[in-house]
Amino acid sequence: MTHDVTAEVARRRTFAVISHPDAGKSTLTEALALHARAIAQAGAVHGKGQRRGVVSDWLDMEQARGISITSAALQFTVDDVVLNLLDTPGHADFSEDTYRVLSAVDCAVMLLDAAKGLEPQTLKLFEACRARRTPVITVINKWDRPGQEPLELLDEIESRLGIVPTPLNWPVGIAGDFRGLVDPSTGGMTQFTRTPGGATIAGREALDAAEAARRHGPDWQQAVEEFELLTASGQSHDQEEFLAARTTPVLFSAAVLNFGVAELLDVLTHLAPAPGPWRDAAGSTRPVDSPFSGFIFKVQTGMDRAHRDRLAFMRVCSGRFERGMVLTHAGSGRPFQTKYAQSVFGRERETIDEAFPGDVVGLVNAQSLHVGDSLYHGAAVSYPPLPRFAPEHFAAVRPRDTGRSKQFRRGVDMLDQEGVVQVLVSDRRGVQAPVLAAVGPMQFEVASHRLEHEFGAEVVLEPLTYTIARRTRASLKPLIDGKHGAEVLERTDGTVVALFTDRWRMGTIAAELPEGSLLPMFGAEDQEVS
Ligand code: G4P
Repeated sequence: MTHDVTAEVARRRTFAVISHPDAGKSTLTEALALHARAIAQAGAVHGKGQRRGVVSDWLDMEQARGISITSAALQFTVDDVVLNLLDTPGHADFSEDTYRVLSAVDCAVMLLDAAKGLEPQTLKLFEACRARRTPVITVINKWDRPGQEPLELLDEIESRLGIVPTPLNWPVGIAGDFRGLVDPSTGGMTQFTRTPGGATIAGREALDAAEAARRHGPDWQQAVEEFELLTASGQSHDQEEFLAARTTPVLFSAAVLNFGVAELLDVLTHLAPAPGPWRDAAGSTRPVDSPFSGFIFKVQTGMDRAHRDRLAFMRVCSGRFERGMVLTHAGSGRPFQTKYAQSVFGRERETIDEAFPGDVVGLVNAQSLHVGDSLYHGAAVSYPPLPRFAPEHFAAVRPRDTGRSKQFRRGVDMLDQEGVVQVLVSDRRGVQAPVLAAVGPMQFEVASHRLEHEFGAEVVLEPLTYTIARRTRASLKPLIDGKHGAEVLERTDGTVVALFTDRWRMGTIAAELPEGSLLPMFGAEDQEVS
């Protein structure tokens, strides 16, 4: 059967959910999948509590913590629209992987806890979306719990993110007393009723304005007035402004009760953008119906005990992918066989036979593939390298047993290539004692676990007190290195990096250096999110 690539692209939506831990990302993911009827009962997707983990259990460490470190992609179909939900690892810690996933999506759902508003990780992830001008849909969750006023939350979004929130619906009942939503398309209300444990789709009833007023009196009145106030002041949805990432549509939900989830699916299917032409390293774009191309946004080793292998996740950018195709690896020009292409639904894997732009393909035993690599068929294309992010955590690492130095070095190289950590070295410390740099400290645990179990080199990790990294020039090294609270090292890509314990220390040292000696970590390939 031949598929029309353009038609397949038009019905795809590729997105990720960005949030602070505990805002309800796993719950929302489950609820979306439930609504999409991908699973019969909520509780089958994420790996918390008694629930069976499907999304991404990985290694003993992760299972013990009940969290997901790895990212996987969920695919489900709603009203003939194919939704690709790329999972961003989401616990108290996060890594460059989280950011990289955002480079492979066309849209993001920013999930906020109604009681907490914007939290630090949400802000960082939002900045990563802003850097790529990714359109963002905002969902204010946990409306069944006491929280802030909806107008306050919108003000906070506007003032702190500089993006105009445009509500698409509005809660009836204050946070903690969630009755339903104003439905602007009818002028009426969608009233929700709870189902036990939120395990099935919530009961919903459409009320006209008169019936809503009769049942919900002042709560209904207030909701309508607030909503009208915002639309009157220009805060109404404009598709062009949303796609240009200047406005963010806002929805309200209680994911745990499945309230407001159908509304989000509706927005994802109708308003979220379909994959568009992807910009290549040379700055031109490759139309979606060109011959096949894609890039690797994530590499994962040992995701599952039953498959201790190396899996590369590829986002399809153009053309039709067919399993068995022989692609060309843009970096080396070498052929790459795709006989073992898979879709990865958490720990479940299925052979994938074809895929279209926006889809994610897992390539198994992809020893030669690295994060950022491009693969293509037909006309050559190379996509831009993925950004690296400014690390904020640093630790010196060495093998516990010097007899395992070879294994240690091999392991560190691999973690560096996979982008699990950035690796910094200096003559003073020597190659046997590099400094690992990470966006979040849990990456050190992942690194030491893998060095021990995968590469056979148990390590000693010594956390360092540095918190800031800046790019500098090799010629300035003598002026910075060895000063109290500072050190200069070299990243494996040749970037000279100065580390400082704090801003004050950095300021004091910078004052004695020529102007422009210390640059933010983001250069052509780096991005600072803070
Ligand atoms: P995360 O992936 O963003 O970290 O959050 P997760 O979905 O695990 O949700 C964090 C906690 O918040 C969970 O409770 C979850 O049940 C709860 N939660 C999610 N959405 C809502 C909501 O709309 N309303 C309310 N009231 N709670 C919500 P937990 O007790 O930590 O875990 P669990 O034992 O319930 O799984």
